[in-house]
Amino acid sequence: KTVAIVGCPFRGGQAKLGVDNGPIHLAEAGIVGQLEEIGWKVAFDGHHQFEDIHTADDPPIGKLKNPRLVSKVAESVARVVGGHAKNGQLPVTLGGDHSLAMGTISGTLDTYPDACVIWIDAHADINTVETTDSGNIHGMPVSFLLGIGSKVPEFSWVKAALKPERLVYIGLRDLDSGEKRLLKEHNIKAFSMHEVDKYGIGKVVEMALDHVNPKRDLPIHLSFDIDALDPSVAPSTGTPVRGGLTFREGHYICEAIHETGLLVALDLMEVNPSIDDAESVCQTVAVGCSLVRSALGETLL
Ligand code: ARG
Ligand code: MN
Ligand code: MN
Ligand code: MN
Repeated sequence: KTVAIVGCPFRGGQAKLGVDNGPIHLAEAGIVGQLEEIGWKVAFDGHHQFEDIHTADDPPIGKLKNPRLVSKVAESVARVVGGHAKNGQLPVTLGGDHSLAMGTISGTLDTYPDACVIWIDAHADINTVETTDSGNIHGMPVSFLLGIGSKVPEFSWVKAALKPERLVYIGLRDLDSGEKRLLKEHNIKAFSMHEVDKYGIGKVVEMALDHVNPKRDLPIHLSFDIDALDPSVAPSTGTPVRGGLTFREGHYICEAIHETGLLVALDLMEVNPSIDDAESVCQTVAVGCSLVRSALGETLL
């Protein structure tokens, strides 16, 4: 089987400079060679260029910032990821900010309509047009995928293809009050850091899979926001929150999902090489590569 690396140098879903360089650094750190070393064929035809997407005139829609740009980029990512998946390749999308997941998950669900989504993050990224405070769309992709909140015509290409019972979170610890309400209202399963502390990561991953994938027969899309990890482990990210996953907890999640044999798509998002000193950047990029390798089958023994 072949991995298709989808490099997405994009930052329009949030305000900080630099997250668009995340995929460049991950590629330069040698992720392609590392995956080849563990036995994969890797297709990587360079980072995706979004410059054909013109949005000189992109005023906010309600609170949403860069709405037309984010929508068009995510739509093009959906096409690319869906295309790779339909060719039988395993798309690995390197972000870029997490608004890209609106595209990656749309592409996955277009190919595998019964896929479940495992979302690893400090944040729920489920704000709607009504609940968002920041207007940053990287805090909103899940609401678009679920089809909750009022509709924005500019995003009409996003099918509400994700069912709440096919989504599970691990690592949450920084939710807006509206987001907490949405999780309850829609009965969405979430394992916060409290549950990770209480049950341990092994049990949490098992419970998460029992919820979204009880018979262990559905395809899995893993969307990993690097800020799920503790800032001491992955400092170079735009919205760090203390009290996160340890290095091993993050890797354990990836290893356990690999072991299911059901992974069909992977995102690694929010690595921002402009944040913190050179050593922190190096550390964050290395951890990012290492999480991807674990999800793709690198073992400790
Ligand atoms: N909840 C906040 C917001 O809506 C933060 C979101 C952070 N998201 C992320 N992908 N890092 O803006
Ligand atoms: Mn490609
Ligand atoms: Mn996050
Ligand atoms: Mn996120």
